[in-house]
Amino acid sequence: MSKAKRISALPGDHNLQNYDQACRTFNFEELAREFYGDAAWVNVAHRVLEDNIARGLGDRVALYFDGDDRQETYTFNQLNQQVNRFANILEKHGLQRGDRLGLFLPRSPELYISFLGAAKKGVVVVPLFEAFMEDAVRERLQDSGARALVTTADLLPRVPRQHLPGLKTVFITRGAVADTDNTLDWHSEVTAASPVTRCCWLNREDPLFILYAAGADGRPKGLVHVHDIMLGLWYTSAWVHDLKDGDVYWCTADPGWITGIAYGFLAPWLHGVPVLVKGGRFDAAGWCRALEKYKVSVWYSAPTAWRMIIAAGREVYGQYDLSSVRHLLSVGEPLTGDVMQWCMETFGIPVYDTWWMSETGMNMICNLRCLDIKLGSIGRPVPGIKAAVVDDSGKELPPYHVGNLAVQRGWPAMARDVWGDRAKYEAYFKLAPWFISGDAAYMDEDGYFYFQGRVDGVINTAGERVGPWEVEEKLKEHPAVLDAGVAGKPDKIRGEIIKAYIVLQPGHQWSQQLKEELRSFVKNGLAAHAAPREFAVKENIPKTPDGQVDRKALRGWVLELGGVD
Ligand code: WT7
Repeated sequence: MSKAKRISALPGDHNLQNYDQACRTFNFEELAREFYGDAAWVNVAHRVLEDNIARGLGDRVALYFDGDDRQETYTFNQLNQQVNRFANILEKHGLQRGDRLGLFLPRSPELYISFLGAAKKGVVVVPLFEAFMEDAVRERLQDSGARALVTTADLLPRVPRQHLPGLKTVFITRGAVADTDNTLDWHSEVTAASPVTRCCWLNREDPLFILYAAGADGRPKGLVHVHDIMLGLWYTSAWVHDLKDGDVYWCTADPGWITGIAYGFLAPWLHGVPVLVKGGRFDAAGWCRALEKYKVSVWYSAPTAWRMIIAAGREVYGQYDLSSVRHLLSVGEPLTGDVMQWCMETFGIPVYDTWWMSETGMNMICNLRCLDIKLGSIGRPVPGIKAAVVDDSGKELPPYHVGNLAVQRGWPAMARDVWGDRAKYEAYFKLAPWFISGDAAYMDEDGYFYFQGRVDGVINTAGERVGPWEVEEKLKEHPAVLDAGVAGKPDKIRGEIIKAYIVLQPGHQWSQQLKEELRSFVKNGLAAHAAPREFAVKENIPKTPDGQVDRKALRGWVLELGGVD
């Protein structure tokens, strides 16, 4: 069996043992030459399928799917054939390079097949998290101008086709297919299609997917990621995730979020490493059983999930043989000491934190295996990345000063645009050459970074990014609400929970019933995870001179006790 390619852009240090030397000598052009060779045209779908098959991995398992009612295994050959069939279907229905395809699906093999089938034809994917409700779905499909959508019969009622005239074709992967125009059964289409297709060769800068990420004071931003993201994923999954031949990799994130796309399947498949995808809801015993059953060796998850497993108790996780796990990584929210301690006790190894964002496309600041871990620190920049803490004018701050966590522009996985809003994209770089992350942090004298929360009011609840503006707008649509301000309140399990301050319309009274009504209103409009868990009634919502909600003032409120719950 052929060996996975090792990164040699760094002479003598294929496994990243010497951090300082790597940082000194690292060069993205050299890395690109090594990864792409002299190929002028690229395609990430070709790279993770045909290229693995060409180096003898065709019969290796690419995907273990473990769902509630189905267990399936796909080799790289089998996956490639399905991907080709779906790619042909897209072409048959008139989708062309650059057109947008929405994916609104639960984690299932069809999701990964559809993603790569689209990529193979240069069609741009718009991932929609399964939990999104009608407003969130409409907003994203409208903004991206999606021409086609893959979904299930269960989810279809949340797709308001009357408001989406551009959405011509809908493929249904599960459930009854309504007898309406251009609603097609994914499986019968795919079965009838040829398993061979022509790959659409692309420029590295061609879009691959548009991912909507919450901002603080406006609609979610459609971050445009391009095929070149694979270069960043390739080297970080070698150096940070330590992926090797023989590994089985499990990233528990949903592909409705960046982690579930970038590291959920693209990164491991770039190394020909088998991926576990678990369907269904979180379940502590089920997750531990999956680690044992698939002999997962590298596990990428989030502190909230681990805290829920810890809370389930040793009588749950202690039943399983977890000895296959050799490397643990964490993302999305602060890695707390209890989780670190549990990992040490349960797996005999520490958990390595990784800091990054939807915008950055790849891991940026991490606890690398070759460095000592400092508990409470997110680690140091991966080689190739220059990070700093800067003040509001872009000046670098000395150690131990809290400021804006910033990264110098110019790495291959960075989003290239905000779909339809160049100005919003450029706003990330208003303190050039820095990309301003929106996080606050400080650095110590050894160059380790310490995450200090968001600067801008974006909420992180159970690792999921929620924009306060979207929730506020939704609340204000309710007849009882005159004004609303929403903030993240610290929570032991979830990191943050959403707290809403509302001003009632005259003539309305606060009641438990109204609270439940408002919760359902947000749940049914946006998503369950966006619904405030706590409310407080106020006389008014603090505003900045330009009329925006004053996020700092709200932050002050949320850290105090009191209010009506
Ligand atoms: C926000 C980005 C791509 C990562 C998954 C979420 C927070 C991310 C960490 C970490 C503390 C973290 C930040 C960031 N975050 N990683 N290791 N420790 N906080 O991506 O949905 O774009 O959210 O997640 O606040 O800004 P995202």
